[in-house]
Amino acid sequence: MFIETCIAPVNIALIKYWGKRDEELILPINDSLSMTLSTDEMCAKTTTAAAASFNRHIMWLNGEEVSLEENARAMCCLNELQRLAIAKGQLKFPIEWKLHIASHNNFPTAAGLASSAAGYACLVYTLAHLYGVEDEELTAIARQGSGSACRSLHGGFVRWHMGKLKNGRDSIALPIAPEHHWPEMHVLILVVNDGRKKTSSTKGMQRSVQTSDLIAYRAKQCVPERTVALVDAIESRDFQKLAEITMRDSNQFHAIALDTYPPCVYMNDVSHAIVEFVHAYNAAVGETKLAYTFDGGPNACIYLLEKDVSAALAAIQLSFPNDAAQSVEYVKGIPVERERKENNGFNGNATFPINEQNLLKYIIHTRIGKGPQRVDKAESLLDLTHGLPIEN
Ligand code: DP6
Repeated sequence: MFIETCIAPVNIALIKYWGKRDEELILPINDSLSMTLSTDEMCAKTTTAAAASFNRHIMWLNGEEVSLEENARAMCCLNELQRLAIAKGQLKFPIEWKLHIASHNNFPTAAGLASSAAGYACLVYTLAHLYGVEDEELTAIARQGSGSACRSLHGGFVRWHMGKLKNGRDSIALPIAPEHHWPEMHVLILVVNDGRKKTSSTKGMQRSVQTSDLIAYRAKQCVPERTVALVDAIESRDFQKLAEITMRDSNQFHAIALDTYPPCVYMNDVSHAIVEFVHAYNAAVGETKLAYTFDGGPNACIYLLEKDVSAALAAIQLSFPNDAAQSVEYVKGIPVERERKENNGFNGNATFPINEQNLLKYIIHTRIGKGPQRVDKAESLLDLTHGLPIEN
């Protein structure tokens, strides 16, 4: 049996991908730019195994058996990797051998936290190792699983170039700067209580392309200008500039979601309260220290610098009181030092809107991180003798 286990990170876009020009190949109508989050707090893990004795492909997602063959996007990634392996020659095992694949997210899939990006990136990266395929074309393959997945194949700041070719070969993700270029970049993810059923990103962006009058202007005019400015802000580590571009792009993406007919409503009242809080906080400290961005759901991702985390978190706790605020389960991830008012420029006297109790489910504190990694056999999700899921 041949077996490989890898982990892959989540990425959060600062300039959003929204709209495809080719649904089949997953080719976008604009470039997008993201930051990869550390795998210490959030990651997908995948084990793939191939053996002569397996009589069919089987996939387990978070412990549940799911059909690989019926998942057209996953099959497409597998076929592309097999094509590369055949083209390269020197196969380690016959290409007809069936696969067992187990995949697991260490964060709640239901929280709507970019799980498909990490999942597809991990699937492609792990299969590439199993088949012994080079890394070059991997982002174009992961893109065909889920567009945003291509950006999870690199660490740091990543740009997905929309490309021009019809076959999509030039629609690839390339690194802009590695994680150690700006290690102080941290993130607070505010997970919001919300039970509504939302339109998936795939369906939502399809409907936006068909019905929004604004989307073409965004893709043609706003995104190219913003991308140049954001690359520049990243290169010069200009947080204030990065923050403004990020917030404006998030707002514009949601404006387009609302300009879609029927509209796609992803943010809720709590999301809007977070937006209000961030602007109030930045005004109070006289500097743009926090930047929000929202994807296809109500959760906020707040970018900030490491030195500002403890003060910002104290202000969040003030504005969004929670019964669980003191529990270790409430603020997950990197431990936060208690607020040191004298060092952080926020004097604690500013007035913020005090929201209702318990609007947030929990907070994850994480930071910029590296791309996918191969991990030791001891971390396998499949047992090394039979290739069946290990109960945990
Ligand atoms: C709002 O990558 O999930 O998160 O390509 O159809 O699988 P598909 O869509 P997906 O869309 C992500 C949209 C977004 C913005 C972003 O991550 O850039």
